[in-house]
Amino acid sequence: MFGKRTDATDGKNKELPSQKPAAPQASEHPAGSNDGNFPDVTPKTSAGTAPPEAPPVEPAPPAPAEPPAKAPEATSHTDDYYVVKSTIFNALIDTIDLTQLAQLDAEHAREEIRDIVNEIIAIKNVVMSISEQEALLEDICNDVLGYGPLEPLLARDDIADIMVNGADSTFIEVDGKVIETNVRFRDNAQLMNICQRIVSQVGRRVDESSPMCDARLPDGSRVNVIAPPLSIDGATLTIRKFKKDKLTMEKLVNYASISPEGAKVLGIIGKCRCNVLISGGTGSGKTTLLNCMTGFIETDERIITCEDSAELQLQQPHVVRLETRPPNLEGEGEVTMRELVKNCLRMRPERIIVGEVRGPEAFDLLQAMNTGHDGSMGTLHANSPREALSRLEGMITMGGFSLPSRTIREMIVSSIDVIIQAARLRDGSRRITHVTEVIGAEGEVITTQDIFIYDILGEDANGKIDGRHRSTGIARPKFWDRARYYGEEHNLALALEAAEMNENDSSV
Ligand SMILES: Nc1ncnc2c1ncn2[C@@H]1O[C@H](COP(=O)(O)OP(=O)(O)OP(=O)(O)O)[C@@H](O)[C@H]1O
Ligand SMILES: [Mg+2]
Repeated sequence: MFGKRTDATDGKNKELPSQKPAAPQASEHPAGSNDGNFPDVTPKTSAGTAPPEAPPVEPAPPAPAEPPAKAPEATSHTDDYYVVKSTIFNALIDTIDLTQLAQLDAEHAREEIRDIVNEIIAIKNVVMSISEQEALLEDICNDVLGYGPLEPLLARDDIADIMVNGADSTFIEVDGKVIETNVRFRDNAQLMNICQRIVSQVGRRVDESSPMCDARLPDGSRVNVIAPPLSIDGATLTIRKFKKDKLTMEKLVNYASISPEGAKVLGIIGKCRCNVLISGGTGSGKTTLLNCMTGFIETDERIITCEDSAELQLQQPHVVRLETRPPNLEGEGEVTMRELVKNCLRMRPERIIVGEVRGPEAFDLLQAMNTGHDGSMGTLHANSPREALSRLEGMITMGGFSLPSRTIREMIVSSIDVIIQAARLRDGSRRITHVTEVIGAEGEVITTQDIFIYDILGEDANGKIDGRHRSTGIARPKFWDRARYYGEEHNLALALEAAEMNENDSSV
């Protein structure tokens, strides 16, 4: 067997371990050749050392298309199972040559592991049913080749977030609800090694000396790791799962996140190049909405996206994707969002899309919106359109720009056309709660007008929120002239009329 460890002296396969396999020694598993599961190979922590090489063992291949219908079996094993697994796992690591295994592709590596595990089970006389054996094999392959206990969760497409709070506690968000799973890691060292494996794929590292890290899984899922000592009960890993099946505006309508007329108006806002700010709380669907809004951009426009962790998926042919960079261990090399936005102004963009505005880049984005880059968009954390405006002002003030607040507000008024507010309601559903226009300023106060709002009417017996989107009856929004310029005037009139008629019908 190719991946089986061969004895350095006689070149023969090493004998399989007898009943009690010795725990692997650090010297047997040099850093970089380990599976990421043994505490003996925690990455070097001293500052100034080069980042560890990505583990040679390739991560598991992309998740299968069909997600299992319910929580994975592997999550509900008994303690005995873990004891048997640990014994077989140790024997396997003692037997297999990880460096050679790393040279195999994932499928062959799995076969190799399968053969050896079967042999170990036979030699050790472990009594287990075929299905138990299959589950064990799958588990061990995931441990050696992939992300261990996370694999079954990563394979599911119905999960929005995976939140690992130390080795013994993992929560997931499904259908807007956060639920606890039985997934657990052998110990904090295994969890930490999996975190290390994830972040090293994007050339970063996480350890005591740099305990916070953002990364991305190969499938595009956004990852954050915060390790001890900052995270008190073991490493905390948060994964925003990449949705293979991206939500589109039609789907948002089907989910009642927005009314059909509201979606039409949003389409027109996107097409006629309004500058848009998408506001919302954490996980409220801002990025999803931004992605949907970019769907209305024409294919001949040059679009530049700036993100902390690339999540957007634009379908247009002429897109440049930029990503910020955190500082290295020496505190050098950082590229901030502000620098990216400033740089992209020199790249002849037609539209600038900022994944999340959270600092002084707000100033540069507003300037860009004001200087010929109409149709630029960004998201921001706020709980209402009004709060979004004051947060924007706060970001500029905090950024050290010594501008009087009147000037900042004038700048906001002349830059932002529309604020779309997203919210995650208490039943877990996501709704667009406001489509609001920025129309001007009265004295020092920015004036806005809502075009659509979401009214909460009550709650049904199952705790589901009952509500509806309501047109505020604005027949001529401020962007009417813009819509006319882009030939969308008629569509806008129809959409607003239809919304108004629905409103009258429901109030009769
Ligand atoms: N309207 C919706 N209906 C159902 N699910 C949604 C909706 N909008 C977003 N989601 C799902 O909710 C999750 C969070 O969405 P998203 O990443 O867009 O939120 P966010 O506000 O950008 O979060 P963060 O603040 O963490 O950046 C994703 O899994 C996404 O698929
Ligand atoms: Mg987001």
